[in-house]
Amino acid sequence: MSLTWSAKDHKSMTQPAATGQKRSRNDIGNKVAVVLGAQWGDEGKGKVVDLLATDADVVCRCQGGNNAGHTVVVDGKEYDFHLLPSGIINSKSISLIGNGVVIHLPGLFEEGDKNEKKGLKGWEKRLIVSDRAHLVFDFHQVVDGLQETERQAQEGKNIGTTKKGIGPAYSSKAARTGLRVCDLLGDFKDFSMRFKNLVRQYQAMYPALTVDVEDQLKKLKEYSERLRPMVRDGVYYMYEALHGSPKKILVEGANAALLDIDFGTYPFVTSSNCTVGGACTGLGIPPLNIGDVFGVSKAYTTRVGIGAFPTEQLNAIGELLQTRGHEVGVTTGRKRRCGWLDLVIVRYAHMINGFTSIALTKLDILDVVDEIKVGVAYKVNGKRIPHFPANMDVLHKVEVEYETFPGWKTDTSAARKWNDLPAKAQNYIHFIENHIGVPIKWVGVGKSRECMIQMF
Ligand code: GDP
Ligand code: IMO
Ligand code: MG
Repeated sequence: MSLTWSAKDHKSMTQPAATGQKRSRNDIGNKVAVVLGAQWGDEGKGKVVDLLATDADVVCRCQGGNNAGHTVVVDGKEYDFHLLPSGIINSKSISLIGNGVVIHLPGLFEEGDKNEKKGLKGWEKRLIVSDRAHLVFDFHQVVDGLQETERQAQEGKNIGTTKKGIGPAYSSKAARTGLRVCDLLGDFKDFSMRFKNLVRQYQAMYPALTVDVEDQLKKLKEYSERLRPMVRDGVYYMYEALHGSPKKILVEGANAALLDIDFGTYPFVTSSNCTVGGACTGLGIPPLNIGDVFGVSKAYTTRVGIGAFPTEQLNAIGELLQTRGHEVGVTTGRKRRCGWLDLVIVRYAHMINGFTSIALTKLDILDVVDEIKVGVAYKVNGKRIPHFPANMDVLHKVEVEYETFPGWKTDTSAARKWNDLPAKAQNYIHFIENHIGVPIKWVGVGKSRECMIQMF
């Protein structure tokens, strides 16, 4: 059985009109499949994208930056991607970094060079970078650290960011003082002036911030020449990809629904839209071109950093999930907090994203557990609430209602089809899909590409 989807499923009924001709609403062109995190990140999006990307034509990142850490394991080799789309592994597909992404150039080239040493060939030739993407500068990363220290001193609590400069870079973008790839590749004198102004603004806010402006500009000039051949008008590139010959186009979400700036557990979130709308705004594509929306969820829950986590298990179960699941952040090396699967949050992620199917990863980690719990509802003052609370004080206080399942106590790591799974594991999976109301398309039972059961 093919593990991927067919290009013709992603094509409109009618052929697209040539450029300039009148287009009907039926001529929507190719559809884009989107892979999104349904929890607090690290659900295994990289692995799902890698699986789908084996015959994709274009794989895009649309938001976030190198705060993401996506692991892909192929032929025993482990690759970590932060800014590069995981599809970069596929030598036949193009990888695109869209306008909604914030790019730290030293980080991008370091990542590419590191993976090149592991055997990734020709990535610079396969990478396209939108000229509208904003830049993350080194000082944005320093400011990220300073803001964390300030939050700790003022409120006794920081966010636990990745310190990759994501918040400050998106702040510059929203304040309209940010600098984009097209600015870097344009008149460098003008770019330098705007860069200096931006530094001055940040130094006014953070007097402790020191920036060697001339050194930074020299490095940026060097990076700009290496970047130049990859830069395109991202909107036009996507338009052509959507309306040319049939193509498989994939969007790799970064971070996740509960970290979304609008819908996540604010303020303990990242600074971009990690839900489906981010695919449209971060690439410049119409909503009608969104096809499948694949939600990725672990068979339990993890979270890195600070913030409410109703099903967290600060006990032996949490420790077991952390150690068996090797739950350590790819970007920061921090231990991930662990707990039972929380279906309230996955359902909430589905309300926003409209998942067409789900990839349930890391089922194998539960193989040794005697009894498995799943959070199915939240109660406030003894009463079930139908929505996911916006207010963090409320979320901290919710009482979780659990369903309990007997563990299957069987090694599932060699299972390759549905019938290979023990009946108790099948029961667990069926319960999850019925509760979310979305079919589970894949079940993950190990790190490698082949450790994925496809259900339909
Ligand atoms: P992402 O950020 O969503 O791409 O996920 P990460 O790569 O940060 O974290 C997921 C981790 O789980 C990685 O180390 C993967 O190799 C690993 N992983 C993914 N799917 C499975 C699975 O089904 N079973 C096991 N045991 N590990 C998995
Ligand atoms: P992937 O794509 C897990 C979390 C950080 C922090 C908060 C804000 O690998 O799933 P930021 O640096 O973005 O300002 O940090 O968001 N966070 C993630 N947690 N996986 C991620 O990405 C994350 N990206 C951001 O830990 O709590
Ligand atoms: Mg990750």
